[in-house]
Amino acid sequence: MEFNPQIIAFLCKWCSYTGADLAGTSRMEYQPNVRAIRIMCSGRIEPTFVLRSFRQGADGVLLCGCHPGDCHYQEGNYRCLRRFYLLKKYIQQMGIEAERLKLEWISASEGKQFAELVNSFTQTIKELGPCKVKGAMEILTQIQ
Ligand code: FES
Repeated sequence: MEFNPQIIAFLCKWCSYTGADLAGTSRMEYQPNVRAIRIMCSGRIEPTFVLRSFRQGADGVLLCGCHPGDCHYQEGNYRCLRRFYLLKKYIQQMGIEAERLKLEWISASEGKQFAELVNSFTQTIKELGPCKVKGAMEILTQIQ
């Protein structure tokens, strides 16, 4: 049976979510594996959001925000970037491949880029196979 990955995408409302919406309204085709969660700003993405996603069965997590300099809350995306690098190291310690977490800047007009991003990330996750977090589960469940 073909592996059908589950991907959680946290999308900033002002740019990335609108970009994803544009991809949809423009009828661009992209892989249906992404569950989009709209947030006000990428700076709002708590590390626990990512860890919980993996704990609850996500095979990949995508973080998207406004381009640098375009954040509606001044520097939320810079905060997100710093957390992203820390989280990448952290999940590796948990036994989760760093490639399962991705950060991209998508503007409201970049529907095509969003569709391409979803397709390429889905392909990456398919190649990695299902996320094996069993060893990490016990530790992750202590994080609430
Ligand atoms: S408002 Fe989009 S990243 Fe901050």
